[in-house]
Amino acid sequence: MSNTAKTGAFEGHKKLERNVTLLAAATLGAVAIGGIVEIAPLFWIDNTIEKVEGMRPYTPLEQAGRDIYIREGCYVCHSQMIRPFRDEVERYGHYSLAAESMYDHPFQWGSKRTGPDLARVGNKYSDAWHVQHLKAPRSVVPESIMPNYSFLAEAELKVADPAANLTALRHVGVPYSDTDIAKAKADLAAQANPEADAGDLATRYPKAQIRDFDGDPARVTEMDALVAYLQMLGTLVDVNSAAAQEELTKAEGGK
Ligand code: HEC
Repeated sequence: MSNTAKTGAFEGHKKLERNVTLLAAATLGAVAIGGIVEIAPLFWIDNTIEKVEGMRPYTPLEQAGRDIYIREGCYVCHSQMIRPFRDEVERYGHYSLAAESMYDHPFQWGSKRTGPDLARVGNKYSDAWHVQHLKAPRSVVPESIMPNYSFLAEAELKVADPAANLTALRHVGVPYSDTDIAKAKADLAAQANPEADAGDLATRYPKAQIRDFDGDPARVTEMDALVAYLQMLGTLVDVNSAAAQEELTKAEGGK
């Protein structure tokens, strides 16, 4: 570099350092490069989550149970994410896949585990066990410090507008069909009532468990919704099937 070029560069830098507006603009520009490199590609790929066979949006009853789970603060003591460590996998089952929480708004991963992880609690216990445990945890697990939720069995399930709930979720990307939304109210009532005609509920929501969950077939309670939600957790994706294993291998980068 010649001497004049050196002096020119020096003069330019001097100007930049002494002009606070110019310096701020240049700093912002330099820092933004890192952000753009990380964020911009996300706008051009369709999905950041690998699709996995079996994952579907929650039924209106499961969704209502999920709302109760959030309302009651169950997440304060329970996580829903099994990490890929041997101790966790041996205790709770196959580690959680990203796709298994793709329809969660908000997600329930959590990190506080006063109680056990619930990501795969579905079908682990009977409905009667859950009802008894939620009403009076110490009657089934004497050393439990979980609070009693007996009022859930008394409270009739009231969802002001199930169709509006699904519509709101559709706005944030959950693929509910027009039929799902039109039938939301009927689906909500039918899933917990074995007497009702559930129609094509099980076709639109594969693996949906349709039965009276709370042991009181006369009415649909908050207990019905919460138990329906718990019994579904971790059961949608068959993590041990050949297809799921193949998806997993792909998701892990073909290892
Ligand atoms: C203050 C903390 C706390 C809160 C809040 C809490 N739990 Fe628990 N939960 C526990 C503890 C501790 C255990 C382990 C002992 C037992 O089984 O009762 C447990 C166990 C469970 C189990 C059994 C899990 C298994 O694999 O054995 C389920 C299901 C459960 N809780 C659901 C819920 C739901 C649903 C709510 C909200 C309505 C909730 N919990 C709120 C602390 C809590």
